[in-house]
Amino acid sequence: MISRNELLKLIPSALDDTNLPLAGREQGKVRDWYDLPDGQRLIVTTDRLSAFDRILARAPYKGQVLNQLSAWWFEQTQDIIPNHIISIPDPNAAIVQTVAPILVEVIVRGYITGVTSTALWYRYSLGERNIYGYDFPEGLRKNAVLPEPIITPTTKGGVTGHDERLTCAEVVEKDLLDQQTWDQVQSAALAIFKRGQEIANKAGMILVDTKYEFGRAADGSVVLIDEVHTPDSSRFWKADSYEARFSAGEDPENFDKEFVRIAYAEKGYRGDGDAPSMPEELWASASERYITIYELLTGQVFEVGEYPVEERLIRNLKREGVMS
Ligand SMILES: Nc1ncnc2c1ncn2[C@@H]1O[C@H](COP(=O)(O)OP(=O)(O)OP(=O)(O)O)[C@@H](O)[C@H]1O
Ligand SMILES: [Mg+2]
Repeated sequence: MISRNELLKLIPSALDDTNLPLAGREQGKVRDWYDLPDGQRLIVTTDRLSAFDRILARAPYKGQVLNQLSAWWFEQTQDIIPNHIISIPDPNAAIVQTVAPILVEVIVRGYITGVTSTALWYRYSLGERNIYGYDFPEGLRKNAVLPEPIITPTTKGGVTGHDERLTCAEVVEKDLLDQQTWDQVQSAALAIFKRGQEIANKAGMILVDTKYEFGRAADGSVVLIDEVHTPDSSRFWKADSYEARFSAGEDPENFDKEFVRIAYAEKGYRGDGDAPSMPEELWASASERYITIYELLTGQVFEVGEYPVEERLIRNLKREGVMS
């Protein structure tokens, strides 16, 4: 793997945002996208790292990992449900089919964990025993495996709105989706999650929980969009140490973005007000973790793309005829 020193040196040139000579740029916290003709869109995954609903830093190669890891998972799951990918013109970019997003975030959880307000463990620790419409028994411990994975939907809040918890029944009652489509989305989500857990297990990891987004294509069919089983959208724990740590009442070794939240929490920051500044080492180690999980899951060596990203991206887009 690329050395810690190289990563530290690359932090200032990590991909922050793009200014491609294409119409209609829009930005999310992590991605920039541009409208293309024929119902297509170019999505560029940047190196922006967000937590606590804000952008905290840039981690070199994070965007490349997210783009290539998602592309890999889309391939691994295309027999279950079609997805939005048309092509991958550059390590940081995807050309996708633009769809009408379904305004439900489909979260699948295999374990009871998490400390944010929508997390199962947090609700359970408040004393709630009916969470997202499911009944939970007394005596559960943090990080316990659930008898089977469950779907805990939230509304898709968008840039400013907050994600609101929903029961599976409310998705239809609140007219977010018709029953037939919701049934289709739920069975696809559970099947993709099962596939993800099997593949993660072979790589020595536990896929703990994850978030999926779906959309409706022009022909009415439901497609999987956004990102799949990345360290931004999912929790991963190390499999071999899970049992011993769980028995000892310790948190599992995590392989996702949780360590960033923990580093902030150690400085007393939990998301309110201005975030304290962090040593660059933290962002270099974020890069290392993202690259490591890519290599473990895919079984492939991560080939670092050429920096600076935007120049390379423009070259690749011209070659593919996306830009003239
Ligand atoms: N094929 C697609 N068609 C339409 N929208 C898409 C498609 N794929 C992804 N999106 C949307 O593009 C955005 C990707 O940007 P990004 O991941 O940076 O957003 P975000 O900051 O996570 O915000 P959000 O809360 O909206 O997900 C998301 O809003 C996602 O729903
Ligand atoms: Mg997103």
